[in-house]
Amino acid sequence: MTDGAHLTTVDTVHDAGSWLFTVRDAYGELDEVILVPCDDRVEGWINRCTHEAQRLDVGRGAAMRDGEIICPRHGSTFDSCAGDCDNGDAAGTRLVPIETTVEDGDVYLSDSSVTFANEGGIDEATTSPADDVDDEDDLPSSTSHIGF
Ligand code: FES
Repeated sequence: MTDGAHLTTVDTVHDAGSWLFTVRDAYGELDEVILVPCDDRVEGWINRCTHEAQRLDVGRGAAMRDGEIICPRHGSTFDSCAGDCDNGDAAGTRLVPIETTVEDGDVYLSDSSVTFANEGGIDEATTSPADDVDDEDDLPSSTSHIGF
C-alpha cells in the first residue's frame, strides 16, 4: 500500500524540530505520525507514547532535547533515531516506527502498512467542503407531488 507520498523536506523537519502528519491504515483508521531529526536524516514514529495513549506532539511540535523526544505527560524520553526508551514509566519500550525514504532532501512515506491522509494531526483532517449541509433538498420528497 506504499503510496510514496511526498511529506516534507529534511531541512523543514530539522528547522522545526518535528513534523506532524496523519496516515490511514488498512482498516481505514487514522493515526498520527511525527517526523523527527535523526543525525542528518529523519525518522518517523507513531505519535503516541508507549506508556499511555499520550500524544508526543500535541499540536505544537514534539518536545525535543539532545536527540530525545520528551513525553509531555510523565517525561519519559525516547531516542529520536532508535525510538527506544530507557527511563521513566515507558522504560524498556520502543515507539512504533513508520518507514520513510529520503531522496534529494525530500521525505516520502514508504511504509507499506499506511497511506498518507493529511499534513498535521487527525483533528486537522480536511472534511469535504460544506457546500450543502442541508441534505433535505438533496433528496426526493417521500410525499412527492411529482406527477408521472
Ligand atoms: S504517558 Fe508517556 S511516560 Fe507516561
